[in-house]
Amino acid sequence: MSPEPDRLSLDRVRLRPVVSVTELLPGQVTRVDGVLPLSRLCQQVEDRSTYLIAWELDQPLGHAHIAWSGTHLRLPEIQDVFVLPKQRRRGIATRLTQTAEEKVRERGWTRVSLSVSKEGNPAARFLYTKLGYVDAGIDPVIVFGTILLRGRPFAVDDTLIYLIKAL
Ligand SMILES: CC(C)(COP(=O)(O)OP(=O)(O)OC[C@H]1O[C@@H](n2cnc3c(N)ncnc32)[C@H](O)[C@@H]1OP(=O)(O)O)[C@@H](O)C(=O)NCCC(=O)NCCS
Repeated sequence: MSPEPDRLSLDRVRLRPVVSVTELLPGQVTRVDGVLPLSRLCQQVEDRSTYLIAWELDQPLGHAHIAWSGTHLRLPEIQDVFVLPKQRRRGIATRLTQTAEEKVRERGWTRVSLSVSKEGNPAARFLYTKLGYVDAGIDPVIVFGTILLRGRPFAVDDTLIYLIKAL
């Protein structure tokens, strides 16, 4: 026998737990690192910056990093927004970015910044436009060469534009 319609919709609600976003704690690093890139983990340890993790129950689904100092625009900068491929288009990057904005606002800042590939990442450009980010009005920055992420070399060849948002 097929389930009654109201029972079916209740089951669907139960199958979609709420995504929560929390700051990465030292005791969670091994667990999260096995699933997500955490490309700026060294920076977090050295500069006391902040990683935010999106969780569904005990599963890490994505992250965003906030650099509080040493940034290009001398504003807090949201970096390394990443969502697992199978979890995309569920609003998780939106939640991560908005939580980062709240953290920045809580520390008394009235603006936040980030950078995005000028042409190479349309998904990110759409995301940040939708969230209200606008061109910061500075020249694009060419990044070319080899960068180290967590001690491993990566070739980069990109042009970044800087965006800002008033909080
Ligand atoms: C970019 C990224 C973070 C988006 O994550 P996400 O959780 O899928 O984003 P959201 O679900 O919050 O999307 C919010 C909005 O962004 C836009 N968007 C997101 N992904 C998009 C895509 N692939 N194509 C077009 N628009 C997209 C849409 O407007 C979307 O709203 P909609 O779903 O109602 O249409 C994710 O694709 C990712 O991890 N990419 C690899 C890492 C990366 O490029 N990070 C950004 C560095 S600057």
